[in-house]
Amino acid sequence: ADEPLVLGIETSCDETGIGIVRGTTLLADAVASSVDEHARFGGVVPEVASRAHLEAMVPTVRRALADAGVTMRDIDAIAVTSGPGLAGALLVGVAAAKGYSVALDKPLYGVNHLASHVCVDQLEHGRLPEPCMALLVSGGHSSLLLVPDITSDVRPLGSTIDDAAGEAFDKVARVLGLGFPGGPVIDRWAREGDRAAIAFPRGLTGPRDAPFDFSFSGLKTSVARWVEARQRAGESVPVADVAASFQEAVVDVLTRKAIRACKENGVEHLMMGGGVSANTRLRALAQERCDAAGIVLRVPRPGLCTDNGAMVAALGAEMVARDRAPSTLSIPADSSMPV
Ligand code: KG4
Ligand code: ZN
Repeated sequence: ADEPLVLGIETSCDETGIGIVRGTTLLADAVASSVDEHARFGGVVPEVASRAHLEAMVPTVRRALADAGVTMRDIDAIAVTSGPGLAGALLVGVAAAKGYSVALDKPLYGVNHLASHVCVDQLEHGRLPEPCMALLVSGGHSSLLLVPDITSDVRPLGSTIDDAAGEAFDKVARVLGLGFPGGPVIDRWAREGDRAAIAFPRGLTGPRDAPFDFSFSGLKTSVARWVEARQRAGESVPVADVAASFQEAVVDVLTRKAIRACKENGVEHLMMGGGVSANTRLRALAQERCDAAGIVLRVPRPGLCTDNGAMVAALGAEMVARDRAPSTLSIPADSSMPV
């Protein structure tokens, strides 16, 4: 028999993502983003995101069905992000998923956003090795997760104690006047700069610091002070060097801690996900350090690293494949859902 056809719905932040998968095969990944509507505010505005999800939901579902060459009647199960994320944004996706589940009389699977970011790699590189380590870095989270079972046992080893990695990129981009979202612009500028030009601090890397927690707020402040000092002195700001040195401080800490987490837990596979894992320097340094440590690195292509519906469908399909019980229609939108 064919593997089940699963439709995934993601609305935890500013992307309305609808994905369709069959088992571990990606058939459609339609994303409508409201990022442009948030740009002038310098960050995601929850109310604006919720309204945008409502408008984009049905057209994006239609687009995904057309891309996959299937109809709604072919769908065997519905998966939806039930948390964590923006409460009002999650509600739109959860309500839509419940509606489709009832109308089609198909099972509903509420899934965790972070676990989905990990599971999406299956669509590109085949079954996820378990246990694996996952480094998830985005605008909303920065976490190290030990994954013995992607559908039922995901253990947080550490996370950021202040800003998320992507938030640091966004804030530093604002300091440099580069616009929002900051990650991709800093990534581009950094290619022209010298990453050893300025020695910015590496947060929480002392011998007595929590080994797997992150802190990026001190780094962000340090960059802002450095730039202000230049401006006060009437000197020009070497944007490329600041971008490259800041980026190096972030990716140095991320990769160092991720590899240490693998070694201490005897895990041989490291998976990276979240918007920041699209960063070219992070990918290069992680590959270099994994090679040196004998760890296999798995990173999906950038389009699957940022928020999307395919990752939700991928985890839903895995729940079906492992005979996990579907959710009831009373699943909440849980903005602070733990993994
Ligand atoms: O996963 P994502 O699309 O949304 C969530 O936050 O959940 O991640 C968005 C974040 C933003 O902070 C953005 O600046 C960052 O990912 N980002 C990057 C890059 N592309 C996106 N950060 C660094 N380098 C990039 N190339
Ligand atoms: Zn995300």
